[in-house]
Amino acid sequence: MRTPIIAGNWKMYKTPREAVSFVQELKTAVAGVQDVEILVCPAFPALLPLSVVLADTNIKLGAQNMHWEPEGAYTGEVSAEMLREIGCTYVILGHSERRQYFGETDTKVSKKARSALDDGLVPIICVGETIDERKAGETQTVIQRQVRGCLNGLRAGEVAGLVMAYEPVWAIGTGLTASPGDAQEVNALIRHLIGELYDRATAASVRIQYGGSVKPGNAATLMSQPDIDGALVGGASLKVADFTRIIKATVETLKPWS
Ligand code: 13P
Repeated sequence: MRTPIIAGNWKMYKTPREAVSFVQELKTAVAGVQDVEILVCPAFPALLPLSVVLADTNIKLGAQNMHWEPEGAYTGEVSAEMLREIGCTYVILGHSERRQYFGETDTKVSKKARSALDDGLVPIICVGETIDERKAGETQTVIQRQVRGCLNGLRAGEVAGLVMAYEPVWAIGTGLTASPGDAQEVNALIRHLIGELYDRATAASVRIQYGGSVKPGNAATLMSQPDIDGALVGGASLKVADFTRIIKATVETLKPWS
């Protein structure tokens, strides 16, 4: 049984002070939630203060990016070890905004994933097609290329423990959500491909999120799909009430009688 993971990707929103006040509210709102993993991924300056507030809570901390080298003359970059030392357990890699604006490629993502795993961080690896690729019927090809490229060099045991996130680019921040059926289809495709590249046990164990305009109103149907193991939430993770409703909707989908 895969534990769903609901992650808030705050992008370049919230100052450290705003972030602290947000999680102080959130930790009360989600206290007692057990069967869903909860993660917040603030901008770098908020990581350290949040790690203090989140100690001994059920909310984990993740970063939105990192460099693949352990250290060096890379102005403006941070390493996996630095993130680990300040309390991060996860790191988002290959988000479409990083691919679009900062030259992130599948090769770079695979190097970052290698480094994250070596330092004990769990990568959340994002893949997803653009609207033009979808319209051209290239969704499968694009996803397969990205998955192969990003996982290049990783071992089965490592892949089994990481998180993939299917985020169709056209659904990010647009209010357009992939239908539960479409999201399920791509998540199943990713799982199937991982089964081919590795083995069935690895495919059965890897968690695959969906991201792209996940809201309180659509979370339950998306999270009920068999191959969707959580959500990477942007806009709706910036409001305590909305993020909490998404988490609680996910908990509800786990009840056998629901
Ligand atoms: P939205 O939920 O705002 O569409 O953003 C999704 C996303 O990019 C999460 O990483």
